[in-house]
Amino acid sequence: KDNLLTLADGNKMPQEGFGLYKVDGQETMNQAVKKAYEDGYRLFDTAQLYGNEQEVGTAFKQLDIPRDNLFVTTKVAEENQGYDKAIESVKESLRKLQMDYVDLLLVHWPVERSFFDTWRAFEEMKKEGLTKSIGVSNYQMIHLQYLATQANEMPVVDQIELHPLLTQKPLLKFNHQHQIVTQAWSPLGRGAVLNEPVLKDIAAAHHKSTAQIILRWHLQNGVSFIPKSVHEERITQNADIYNFELSTQEMAQIDALNAYHRTGREPELVYEYNKQY
Ligand code: A2P
Repeated sequence: KDNLLTLADGNKMPQEGFGLYKVDGQETMNQAVKKAYEDGYRLFDTAQLYGNEQEVGTAFKQLDIPRDNLFVTTKVAEENQGYDKAIESVKESLRKLQMDYVDLLLVHWPVERSFFDTWRAFEEMKKEGLTKSIGVSNYQMIHLQYLATQANEMPVVDQIELHPLLTQKPLLKFNHQHQIVTQAWSPLGRGAVLNEPVLKDIAAAHHKSTAQIILRWHLQNGVSFIPKSVHEERITQNADIYNFELSTQEMAQIDALNAYHRTGREPELVYEYNKQY
């Protein structure tokens, strides 16, 4: 439960976190954050795009959680990419979150326009202490290779859509080889896989729910994952995955569910790079 992953920059990040996408309204936010914190979640993942940074910050304040106990991630929206805009937007995020720094700052989606300017701003913001670590989200291999042509520091995290219907094995391997920690968004496939018969059988064998089986699969794959729920019993359930183990065969059965199925959008390509290489 207290599993920490060491990032390439030396910072440590909890392997399991709590996703805040679509956790809206101050009361719902307070309840969800309180329950998650009580259940041992320390990583909280928000984004400018989610429109709830103010509520997240207020929830932490109301619960009187010491800043050092938290690992907070936010993400720069596409409309805020570019050198100056990215920095301005992060200062605004910090005002809303009511904190001096975030632990992890991610580029939310690859955008060809301002691709390198945005990353230079990220490197600068890390130097200035606005964030402890810098990373990206929704970057495929080609985006990371393109970034490597100009970056001084590479991202330490790549947060991608990842679940049993979209296993992304080649990207996981690439990230691992480049000391980039892969983090799964929609780790439960937005609920789409919860009724898979294979998962139901494995769940029955372990007296666990299918959601717990999927999260345990992420855990054993060594990736970070950030399930979201606004229901207290599910918040608790999703953190209760540390007292059983999936066999190699069960892991392989889950891998075999891959269907290249995205619940979200396809990351945009970077054409300049395609032309060159
Ligand atoms: P809710 O917040 O109403 O509980 P993902 O993280 O893959 O995007 O999926 C999250 C979705 O799955 C949410 O709609 C959430 O809904 C639901 N969910 C989260 N945890 C569980 C669980 N343990 N069992 C069933 N559904 C869950």
